[in-house]
Amino acid sequence: MSTDPFQGYAGRGALIERVKARLVIDWRGIHGVAHWARVAANGRRLAGTTGADLGVVELFAWLHDSCRHDDGRDPDHGPRAVDFARELRGEFFDLEEARFELLAAACELHTRGQTEAEVTIATCWDADRLDLGRVGTVPDPRYLCTPPGRDPDVIQWALARSLAGHEPGR
Ligand SMILES: [Fe+2]
Ligand SMILES: [Fe+2]
Repeated sequence: MSTDPFQGYAGRGALIERVKARLVIDWRGIHGVAHWARVAANGRRLAGTTGADLGVVELFAWLHDSCRHDDGRDPDHGPRAVDFARELRGEFFDLEEARFELLAAACELHTRGQTEAEVTIATCWDADRLDLGRVGTVPDPRYLCTPPGRDPDVIQWALARSLAGHEPGR
């Protein structure tokens, strides 16, 4: 199997359209597509140093907040994202079982505030937490899990982008 989870499928754009079709929160809201795109970009930047599995990080970015019922705490949106990922697997992307388990753990546990995990999972969580500037929270290195995630230059770079509402290309 290719390391690219979209190899042999319609691609990232098709997955995002599928996610959009079932989304009940605001597509343009604080947990919407611009956030996902920044999480993906943050993840790519971190993965260059952490060695995280980029395919898993990318899928995490587009899926982790896809099953929210609202933009509040919604504590079970992580486990719901895992169910949705299982549904989409084999139709919009594929991952070997071990990689899918990383994606599932990253999604399921991303709201719990844990700071220690396997490196791909930790990279997913940092990519998400580095975008807290969009809700007025400066990312705190104590709640970031990887050395590049805690790098002040990376925090400032991500903060500026989230404050500006920057939307990286998909
Ligand atoms: Fe979330
Ligand atoms: Fe998020």
